[in-house]
Amino acid sequence: MLLHNIEDVRKEITEWRKSGLTVGLVPTMGALHNGHLSLIKKAKETCDKVVVSDFVNPIQFGPSEDFDKYPRTLEADMDLCNKEGVDIVFAPSADEMYGEGQRLSNDTLTYVCPPFFYVNTLCGKSRTGHFDGVCTVVLKLFNIVQPDYAFFGQKDAQQVIIIKKMVNDLNVPIKIIQCPIVREESGLALSSRNKYLTEQGKKDALVLSKILNNIKSCYKKGITDVSALKETAYNFLTEKHDLEYIEIVDKYTLEDKIKADDNSIALIACRVENVRLIDNIYLGENS
Ligand code: PAF
Repeated sequence: MLLHNIEDVRKEITEWRKSGLTVGLVPTMGALHNGHLSLIKKAKETCDKVVVSDFVNPIQFGPSEDFDKYPRTLEADMDLCNKEGVDIVFAPSADEMYGEGQRLSNDTLTYVCPPFFYVNTLCGKSRTGHFDGVCTVVLKLFNIVQPDYAFFGQKDAQQVIIIKKMVNDLNVPIKIIQCPIVREESGLALSSRNKYLTEQGKKDALVLSKILNNIKSCYKKGITDVSALKETAYNFLTEKHDLEYIEIVDKYTLEDKIKADDNSIALIACRVENVRLIDNIYLGENS
């Protein structure tokens, strides 16, 4: 069922609650791909009822980012959700979410600000205000849907860590389920932004997962010095790759590491054909 209004969503969910059903929320910005599909499947396995939100959230995009051209594919998203037995697709307008004609700024709206140490690193460095926008919309979706579980992909590792922190710090009674990265056979992590890449761009983008896999295999061979591990990335980069960062940090707190250990995560952000791509890998795990 496709719903655009908060009130209609609440009405449906109230009925489910009366029958004692559990509810799972999969927050998305639409342009659904197999990565989202894995979240939906996990939600279906875990909960009686599943809500997918489909909303390109304006307040998480910077002024020079791709908000206007971000792919909007509601019809195809609906087909996929119907096939998977999703109970509600919630696709609100910005007016519905933030108030009609509301100026979208923290001068006039209440925003959720995640902690400085969690945002002043990795993607947050180049995307000022991005995680405020993400946490604000996610908390609003949590309050609208009031799910028991919410499902997020490890692909946006910093995002999940920050959302878990928000849920913990603000006593939000929702269990966050993190699902593994889904990759193309080539190794390319699935992302709605892959749609911007040409075939050649997709090939060039494989460097991200190659760099991460190589760091992990060096770590497994006993190299723990973070600078040495990061240095290995340069063996793969060419003039087609505009590296934004390669970092190895603690997988719970995002703190920098000097020596990598089994709690480390390696993360990369790199532009290919001017498309900003991210990927990550846990060094301690076998996947
Ligand atoms: O990961 C995303 O697609 C978005 O950041 C989210 C969590 C749906 C919030 O808009």
